Amino acid sequence: LANPLLVRAANEARQRVWEARLAGRKVGLVPTMGALHAGHLSLVQAARGECDFTVVTIFVNPTQFGPGEDFHRYPRDLAADLAALARGHVDMVFAPAVDDLYRVRHSTFVEPPRVARAWEGAFRPQHFRGVATIVLKLLHIIPADVAFFGHKDYQQTCVVRDMVDDFDIPVTIRTCPTIREADGLAMSSRNAYLSPSEREQAGAVHRSLAEAVAMFEAGERDSATIARAMRGVLMQAGIVRIDYIALVDPLTLDEVSRVGVDSVALVAVHVGATRLIDNTQVG
Ligand code: PAF
Repeated sequence: LANPLLVRAANEARQRVWEARLAGRKVGLVPTMGALHAGHLSLVQAARGECDFTVVTIFVNPTQFGPGEDFHRYPRDLAADLAALARGHVDMVFAPAVDDLYRVRHSTFVEPPRVARAWEGAFRPQHFRGVATIVLKLLHIIPADVAFFGHKDYQQTCVVRDMVDDFDIPVTIRTCPTIREADGLAMSSRNAYLSPSEREQAGAVHRSLAEAVAMFEAGERDSATIARAMRGVLMQAGIVRIDYIALVDPLTLDEVSRVGVDSVALVAVHVGATRLIDNTQVG
């Protein structure tokens, strides 16, 4: 299998994408930070299904990491990522260097939309400012018709969707289902940080979400009752550092007191030194 075309320079990436567009090809963008797993590959597959020219970007974006977060130890293995993508029939991989994307004098940032404020935004104050900024930059370099994001980072998809709407960016945002391990743990590049015992504990994150779904199916509508049960599942597994458990409106991400079919359960916890997030629609 041949590795996909690897492009490092923004100008070359932009030119190749414009050539594809002028040739009438529909361009799909899958933005990633590398350390690719089956979740990313499912986004690639979705892009391949809908578009004729698929671009994957690999860039560990420094501006979305806070001080003391894992920017420096975030897993990076471009050779393994390219090998994984060779099987995915990707047309181009754009993997710029940090200095090429953020010139020394870079000082402009996107003020993220309202949906960025709570939850991840409260625990990682500059995170969505960095995400919105890099996604806007990537969409300028890779003017795609469709961009693909994972449901796993649900709040991120809301931030990107609102930014795209607010800034009239001509791209369709697709959110693809979360891909899970056999025990339900959502695939994430950060799962690699977990020790075997932490990995086992981490299974409770999905079980807490499954509990919310089961309670909803059994007729429970009170969000405080559901959140309490979710907390119980996590605590029972020994997960005590819980950043938040929330039942929210799917569009505004405002907390709801009565849960409806489209409400989303959000959870963020620490398992050892690793922070994990996950979510599910309850109905
Ligand atoms: O979800 C991610 O991997 C990142 O937040 C993204 C969208 C690639 C921006 O750096």
